[in-house]
Amino acid sequence: MRDFQNSLKGLYLTMKGMSLYKEGDILLGMYRVIDLIGVGNFGEVYKVEVLKGRYAGQVMALKVARDKTMLPYLWKEAQTHILFNHPHILTMQSYLYKKDRGELFLIYELMDVGNLKHYVAKQGPLEEAEALKVIFQVAKGLEFLHNRGYIHGDIKPENIFGKRVMKSILWKLGDFSLLRVRGYSGIIDIKGTVGYIAPEVFKNQIHRSSDIFSLGCVLYFTLTGKSPFDAEEEQEKLRRNKLVIYTMPEGISPKVQVLLGLMLERDHEKRFKTAKELINYMLAQRLL
Ligand SMILES: Nc1ncnc2c1ncn2[C@@H]1O[C@H](COP(=O)(O)OP(=O)(O)O)[C@@H](O)[C@H]1O
Ligand SMILES: [Mg+2]
Repeated sequence: MRDFQNSLKGLYLTMKGMSLYKEGDILLGMYRVIDLIGVGNFGEVYKVEVLKGRYAGQVMALKVARDKTMLPYLWKEAQTHILFNHPHILTMQSYLYKKDRGELFLIYELMDVGNLKHYVAKQGPLEEAEALKVIFQVAKGLEFLHNRGYIHGDIKPENIFGKRVMKSILWKLGDFSLLRVRGYSGIIDIKGTVGYIAPEVFKNQIHRSSDIFSLGCVLYFTLTGKSPFDAEEEQEKLRRNKLVIYTMPEGISPKVQVLLGLMLERDHEKRFKTAKELINYMLAQRLL
């Protein structure tokens, strides 16, 4: 775990050295950069202070494309995300597109706990009850998407965000840059993260149940600090992920073992079809 923390720190310092903006920069004449808080496959995310307007004085998160090739993804993300309103979905406050300069700014509520990957790296693996709470909350956000015919397409610990509310943490689903509509039949460019991808996605098929598989990987991660398909070599990780080769973590209750087995079912037809089915199962089995 210590190694993992150090490597995260190293990565963070490198990304800070290469980021587009730095502390003190003023963007669009109204956002003052406080710090770089994250870099994903598509964007750089900054903590900013709003200087003018209705939200003056508030601190928010601002995402920009890492480079121009990422713009189409973020543009699609902005247009759909802005329509979502749910307690377990990250709130997007607004977006601004400077067409002439090819710049896009996405503004979100700031999630002060950061992402689930960092949280588990810091705290260590979570107790079963806490892990189930996180998964249940994310499933609620996912249910909102699934009910509307969307597939998230990139469920992983880096895309789940925590916010402190009183003494507990509220978990929300974010990052809709790979959002797809149900029934999507084009070529799937695999931009997800190896270790969290449903096996059928490698065969150019994606369903709402593919999100359930990825969420199963997240449950495994919160309980162990690792993806179920973790391996030293990247090639081996890919092989295990494609073939769904994993071992059940030790010390977890039979009920949670069954749940993990169902979520990580290789055949998507045997998995929960939607987040709603997963939620109903968790409630019926008294997993909360
Ligand atoms: N609203 C937010 N509050 C706090 N941190 C955030 C927020 N949005 C993003 N981040 C951080 O930035 C990282 C990248 O953001 P994300 O939206 O996942 O971008 P990408 O589409 O490039 O993957 C996240 O993993 C997280 O660490
Ligand atoms: Mg991301």
